[in-house]
Amino acid sequence: MFRSGVAVDLGTVNTLVHVRGKGVVLDEPSAIALHKQAGGPTLVGWRADDLMGTEPADIDVVHPLRDGVISDLDAATAMLRGFLHQAHFRSSLRRPRAVICVPSGASFIERRALAAAAVYRRPRLAVRLLEEPVAAAVGGGADPLGTEGVLVVDIGGGTTEVALVVGTHVVRLRTLRIGGNAMDEAILQAVKAELGLQIGPRAAEHLKKTLGLTGGTEESAPVVGIDTARGSVREERVSGPVVASALEHLVAAVVDAVEELIWEIPPDLAAGVVRRKVQMSGGGALLQGLAGRIRTATGVTTVIVEEPLRSVVRGAATILERHFDLLPPAQ
Ligand SMILES: Nc1ncnc2c1ncn2[C@@H]1O[C@H](COP(=O)(O)OP(=O)(O)OP(=O)(O)O)[C@@H](O)[C@H]1O
Ligand SMILES: [Mg+2]
Repeated sequence: MFRSGVAVDLGTVNTLVHVRGKGVVLDEPSAIALHKQAGGPTLVGWRADDLMGTEPADIDVVHPLRDGVISDLDAATAMLRGFLHQAHFRSSLRRPRAVICVPSGASFIERRALAAAAVYRRPRLAVRLLEEPVAAAVGGGADPLGTEGVLVVDIGGGTTEVALVVGTHVVRLRTLRIGGNAMDEAILQAVKAELGLQIGPRAAEHLKKTLGLTGGTEESAPVVGIDTARGSVREERVSGPVVASALEHLVAAVVDAVEELIWEIPPDLAAGVVRRKVQMSGGGALLQGLAGRIRTATGVTTVIVEEPLRSVVRGAATILERHFDLLPPAQ
């Protein structure tokens, strides 16, 4: 009989769910809307995130993994349950399986709580937790049974993880509490300081995606915000260098972390790393000009994995389907 299974990438910004036999069935913001009075969850994902802008008085919209760690464990477990329900994940009669990628900052207690959330109303579910850099490596094409070193740079919303992975093991790791959210915040502050314009986080994210470090194709991009002196709505073009210089300290921190990790590579693993190249993954890998910066600083060819926003869930799905027993039980 078909054994049902689910792979989940529980990210700071996005959660993806892959159901065995169906592929990725859910790709939504990691957000949950909670009733202030009753406390119970109302909506998860897009529908919760969209509510945030409207700020309804009786509802709190929570991003429970906001800073790359679990900032609200109850909300995180409720959100995971909501997503599994929404993904129509059904347990089969044979022992069903789940692989869940958790942020590396999650504590032992938080990991257990998340595993328990997946098992809620599915008592026969076998859960394995997977380190995100391992999933990113496998999602980028690395062999979970391999003995070669793979250097992964996973730039998510809340964290950047630079890791040397061998098979399903993290051999060296640098974790930075910065990622796409910090980039958006830096752009927002720079536009306010340099142009006297208060913009929202979504506009800042848009500037990041269109201009990146290189200025994009147009070299500037329009944005609408509130004039900080007059309090009136104003449209302005933001130039590439404003965005690039706002991001510089964050980019420098990522490049430094990659260089430091390269110095720590055990000599026998170096050849594999060079052969497999630096593998960039996560949404931040798409920042225009970043791969080039890493390549120049380290001298190692740097590539962006295919569909970097999906590499973690893809790797988790590969392990779910073919190498589940390599991972230790979560409970
Ligand atoms: N083209 C792009 N250029 C720059 N950044 C981008 C681009 N596309 C997406 N991003 C950013 O990628 C981030 C989301 O990436 P991802 O989904 O990998 O994070 P996550 O897995 O939820 O977070 P984490 O791994 O930290 O828990 C967001 O900050 C988003 O703005
Ligand atoms: Mg991620």
